[in-house]
Amino acid sequence: MEPVLVVKDLVTKLTIHEHAYNVVDHLSFELLPGKTLAIVGESGCGKTMAALSLMRILPDPSLFQSFGEVLYKDQNLLDLSEKEMRKLRGSRIAMIFQDPTSSLNPVYTVGQQLLEVVEFHLNLFGAEAHRRVLQALEEVGIVDPALRMHDYPHQLSGGMKQRVMIAMALLCEPDILIADEPTTALDVTIQAQILELMRTLQKQRGMALLLITHDMGIVAEMADDVIVMYASQMVEKGEVTQIFDHMKHPYTIGLFQSRPSLTTVRGQLKAIKGSVPPLTHYPTGCRFHPRCPFVMPKCKHADVPNFQIELIPEHTCKCLLYDGTLESTEKKLETKK
Ligand SMILES: Nc1ncnc2c1ncn2[C@@H]1O[C@H](COP(=O)(O)OP(=O)(O)O)[C@@H](O)[C@H]1O
Ligand code: SF4
Ligand SMILES: [Mg+2]
Repeated sequence: MEPVLVVKDLVTKLTIHEHAYNVVDHLSFELLPGKTLAIVGESGCGKTMAALSLMRILPDPSLFQSFGEVLYKDQNLLDLSEKEMRKLRGSRIAMIFQDPTSSLNPVYTVGQQLLEVVEFHLNLFGAEAHRRVLQALEEVGIVDPALRMHDYPHQLSGGMKQRVMIAMALLCEPDILIADEPTTALDVTIQAQILELMRTLQKQRGMALLLITHDMGIVAEMADDVIVMYASQMVEKGEVTQIFDHMKHPYTIGLFQSRPSLTTVRGQLKAIKGSVPPLTHYPTGCRFHPRCPFVMPKCKHADVPNFQIELIPEHTCKCLLYDGTLESTEKKLETKK
């Protein structure tokens, strides 16, 4: 299967007081049509920055700069003009956000906002545009779409707003949907409904989904492939079944053990100690070393490459336990306890 998006060595630099920090540090992956790639990690790991970099909607272009390749139909999106990018954004590559309120304009009705997209990207007007919007609202399970079109965002519940956002994102039948924590702000029942809706629509359309989440449960339910991110870097990558059966990175293991479902089974949250370091204070060596239960002396200073665990399908892990030395091999046994 040909990938629909190829990301190679994506680096996004943020300049603070004339010092540049990598908010996204050498990220590489491929998105396949009809497949879901999840990016998972705690808050502050750089997941949103990675998504905004792909869409080229970083907060302040004078402070943020991206390098590397984001290849869509053989063109590097990082090289496109803003005008060319605006045509792709929302039509070929669409994005939905954690907080739908911030992406909907409070002073326009839902219908007005959807019509604007239809007019701009699809060149449809009048009754035809109206019909397209109604159809989109129906597709995302909104009852009485003709009435709901006249609602202002504040009149809708969180779940309904997210449905409207999905409708808007899918209006132009994009090849790629990027969803950044789309259900984090919703309660559990609504969360399940929205995920189910996204899965159904993705199947129908054969769209590639890049799903950003901090929740390993959602990864298990939704994804085909997964990237685990820590402190701006990819630390483990592979097929979901491979990662869940043979996870290697101590951070992945910690995230997995922190899942709420396990909390109820064991009665306590086996969370990873400490927290994600701020961008300006990443540790030397392995960035996870201050929190790692398996840390070795060399972890504090050595460069850590992505070691290949399995060749086909590819499974990589950025951890010195896999460098093949005797010290690491002995230490590695502890991770299995
Ligand atoms: N507008 C901003 N200005 C400066 N730093 C930012 C900004 N937004 C995010 N960051 C920093 O970039 C890093 C990655 O953040 P983010 O991508 O939002 O993480 P995630 O989505 O994984 O929670 C964090 O260290 C965060 O503090
Ligand atoms: S490289 Fe060392 S500190 Fe980092 S995750 Fe592996 S064992 Fe832990
Ligand atoms: Mg985020």
